[in-house]
Amino acid sequence: MAHTATVGFKSDFADGKPHKVTVDDHDVCVVQVDGELHAIDDLCSHAEVSLSEGEVINCTIECWMHGATFDLKTGEPLGPPATGPVQVHTVTLSEGDNPEVQITLNEARR
Ligand code: FES
Repeated sequence: MAHTATVGFKSDFADGKPHKVTVDDHDVCVVQVDGELHAIDDLCSHAEVSLSEGEVINCTIECWMHGATFDLKTGEPLGPPATGPVQVHTVTLSEGDNPEVQITLNEARR
């Protein structure tokens, strides 16, 4: 069964700023970059700290704890010490000027 939740409006997600939302008790980091929304698991794959407290650089996020970076589009690690990816989740927008943002959890790595 798909786990989906509406987490706010697009305007709630300031460009380049990470936001932690919860979908079905699962923490997800949502980031808008250049008008496009991305959603990845909030937990760093290295030591399980919150990526939404990290820094967004272009379309990557840098973990605040040890500095690993992850691609926001793929979840792949781009720099050490993390070696494993974080799960990417699906973002769906409703119609309109300020659409609602819906996140569907992708189950593969939950
Ligand atoms: S906890 Fe994220 S890089 Fe170590």
